[in-house]
Amino acid sequence: MSRAIPLSVPVIQGNEWKYIKECLDTGWVSSAGGFVNKFEDMMAEYTCCSHAVATTNGTSALHISLIACGIKPGDEVIVPSLTFIATANVIKYCSAEPLFMDCDKNTLCIDTDKLREFLKENTYSAENITYNKDTKRPVRAIIPVHVFGHPADMDALLEISEHYNLVIIEDATESLASEYRGKKTGSFGNAGCFSFNGNKIITCGGGGMVVTNDDALAKRIRHLTTQARSDDVEYDHNEIGYNYRLTNIQAAMGFAQMERINQIIDTKRENALVYKNSLSGIEGLEVCWEQKWGKSNFWYITLRVPEEHKKTLSEFLISKGIQVRPLWKPLHTLPMYKNSQSYKITSAIEAYNTCINLPCSVNLTNEDIRYVSENIIGYFSNL
Ligand SMILES: Cc1ncc(COP(=O)(O)O)c(C=O)c1O
Repeated sequence: MSRAIPLSVPVIQGNEWKYIKECLDTGWVSSAGGFVNKFEDMMAEYTCCSHAVATTNGTSALHISLIACGIKPGDEVIVPSLTFIATANVIKYCSAEPLFMDCDKNTLCIDTDKLREFLKENTYSAENITYNKDTKRPVRAIIPVHVFGHPADMDALLEISEHYNLVIIEDATESLASEYRGKKTGSFGNAGCFSFNGNKIITCGGGGMVVTNDDALAKRIRHLTTQARSDDVEYDHNEIGYNYRLTNIQAAMGFAQMERINQIIDTKRENALVYKNSLSGIEGLEVCWEQKWGKSNFWYITLRVPEEHKKTLSEFLISKGIQVRPLWKPLHTLPMYKNSQSYKITSAIEAYNTCINLPCSVNLTNEDIRYVSENIIGYFSNL
């Protein structure tokens, strides 16, 4: 009998129906209501941040954070090349320019050594602003991405941001519950952004959240996400705002999902370990693992294989009903970004050429993982 193991599907096993029904029964279905507040409070508490502001999705969370942190047309923002397209697109939404950096071989997150080298050799400082020597534009911010749930090296990034006076907006869209030296990702930068898309650790169908410890920033993000309305009664608006608020129905779902976050993370980590043990000791294969200073939520399981086998192995697994996916094409190679500045990017290309993501839904059984692993092992032993 043929099997089908999807890459990542949501698991809806808690109070989702009950809470969503409550929204429907009470008529609180739109962008105000008790569940929005509850979900925000829960996320703030969980990430140990003083504020959380819900947004329509992770992309809008990143976009609004850039605006609220003062990114202006013509500014430059440092971003890893190995990330989902949204991380760079939001920079362009601000009419700012991305500066693409390489990834670290082990974590797949931004390579902080190369970043330091770039800033040392290619920028100068004037009145506490860092300028790009080539373009003469101000470099204002870094968006580190905690790729597939593994935390980026936040100590190095905080030190760099301090030295060069750069804002940090963490793209924590994939890393809910992951930790860097015992502290939750999303809580290090000026702002941290989460996504609750259907394939994420928890989902609202679609949704996002910005967390921050900066009172003024939180207030401004809330203001901008609600069309910059400046009066509770009058339709008075003091700047151009956005309709970026999450609905109560979506928040109800997110809140129900968050009630089970510890269980979800335990399962994800157990599954990752089963994968690692099943595929260990096979020459040429490596399940990307966490660094000793990091705790990953293992949102995605990444398998490194010899380059010449990436495509054929993927095709073979798909033919067996196992949904796998390639990594993102490094963004600096895409048509919209090929003329943007990039700095010595080699590892991101290598990761793209050698890595695939394996099925990782929360409801994956040990038997599913065995089936995936046996097929991978079978592929290599039949060469
Ligand atoms: C790294 C990264 N950044 C940003 C996003 C955008 O989040 P959303 O799809 O909720 O807009 C995603 C996920 O889709 C992502 O994986």
